[in-house]
Amino acid sequence: PDAGSFYDLVGGEPTFRKLVTEFYAGVANDPLLRPLYPEEDLGPAAERLTLFLIQYWGGPTTYSQQRGHPRLRMRHAPFRIGTAERDAWLHHMRRAMDTLDLPTEQDEKLWGYLRHAAQFLVNSPDQS
Ligand code: HEM
Repeated sequence: PDAGSFYDLVGGEPTFRKLVTEFYAGVANDPLLRPLYPEEDLGPAAERLTLFLIQYWGGPTTYSQQRGHPRLRMRHAPFRIGTAERDAWLHHMRRAMDTLDLPTEQDEKLWGYLRHAAQFLVNSPDQS
């Protein structure tokens, strides 16, 4: 991992663990999102997202050691993700980010990335 990375700046592993724990607490009770998750236990999914975000922002590369190349579009292909799913995902992520109390500049950087990534993963047209 690079010293002085965004990962270090925001507080390293505990920050990403808290973010994803808070996020999945919301997903666990979401009637739209919860059925998408194939496993009863959300713990392993939370671990994968945590390790991915840690790696993306310049921390240890444990994610790819365990999972290989992220290929997020491909890995989300089995799930129907329309704008409603995207917005629900971002809603829980925004609430989770609020618990971190990051400085504005860091908040905007992380939030901007998550919004773009969520848009990129939309793979189904809206029902009309
Ligand atoms: C996995 C849903 C957006 C990163 C998953 C899984 C579901 C899901 C159902 C499978 C759970 C598992 O077994 O790991 C969604 C929905 C999204 C969304 C509905 C709304 C747009 C995102 C975004 C990111 C992301 C924006 C990254 C910034 C991941 C990662 C995995 C994952 C890293 C695990 C991949 C693996 O190694 O298998 N997502 N996701 N997802 N998602 Fe998402």
